[in-house]
Amino acid sequence: MNPERYAPIGVFDSGLGGLTVVREIMRNLPDERIVYFGDTARVPYGNKSKETVIRYSRQIVNFLKTQEVKAIVVACNTASALALDTIRPEIDLPIIGVVRPGTEMALQATHNKRIGVIATDSTIRSNLYQTLLREHDKDVRVFAQACPLFVPLVEEGWTKDPVTHIVAERYLADILEQDIDTLIMGCTHYPLLRTLLREVAGESVQLINPAYETALALRRLLDHHGLLNDGRHQITPQYAFYASDTVEKFNAFANSILPYEISSTTQVQIEKY
Ligand code: DGL
Repeated sequence: MNPERYAPIGVFDSGLGGLTVVREIMRNLPDERIVYFGDTARVPYGNKSKETVIRYSRQIVNFLKTQEVKAIVVACNTASALALDTIRPEIDLPIIGVVRPGTEMALQATHNKRIGVIATDSTIRSNLYQTLLREHDKDVRVFAQACPLFVPLVEEGWTKDPVTHIVAERYLADILEQDIDTLIMGCTHYPLLRTLLREVAGESVQLINPAYETALALRRLLDHHGLLNDGRHQITPQYAFYASDTVEKFNAFANSILPYEISSTTQVQIEKY
């Protein structure tokens, strides 16, 4: 028996959005334990510089290591794009982000090799989605669009609101003109706009949710390291939640999207790590 396999997985995000990744891990890896950290005091990361996002991500990784996690998932697209490559060689734990799994799924899905990517400003400016897609297949054409208003609209709960619909039409107009058949929802919050994005983009465009593919990639990663939890030892609590700001909003949002009742999120002074 490898006792490490019963350790939790550390998942982090700039705030609440990474819970969409937690939701996929819960669904696809139901035996795994999870420690989630949401940097709610310093969100958004999507308009911040690479240096800042690396510094924040390092602190969070240091905190997660105190929780004795066996692996880390960078659930935030912006942190995956800006910080993961710097942090990976600094730690001795398996770590994955959401960008690579998202690109792999999009490359499998596209038929006409015309792929759209929507994400935060910093993720689009990092060019990582665009570079990885073209690295795999130089014939792929990528059309990228930053959608900075989507995050606050989702956090406001306006996921089906006509205002959000108008905003989406405006953001997507140019890339939809490019005859894309695949659209990567390259930000944690965007899967919560799936219905609305489907209406705006139309049935002919496949929507890619990197969160789902990340859960599958996580399973392969854990298996590769002999770290998959076989569910033989139930350790409670199975899920633990931490945030850097007050927890009321966090709990309300978490309970609206997770199939699990959250009441006891702990506030952490993340600057100490
Ligand atoms: N979690 C971020 C992402 O996936 C969105 C929110 C933010 O800007 O921090 O890019």
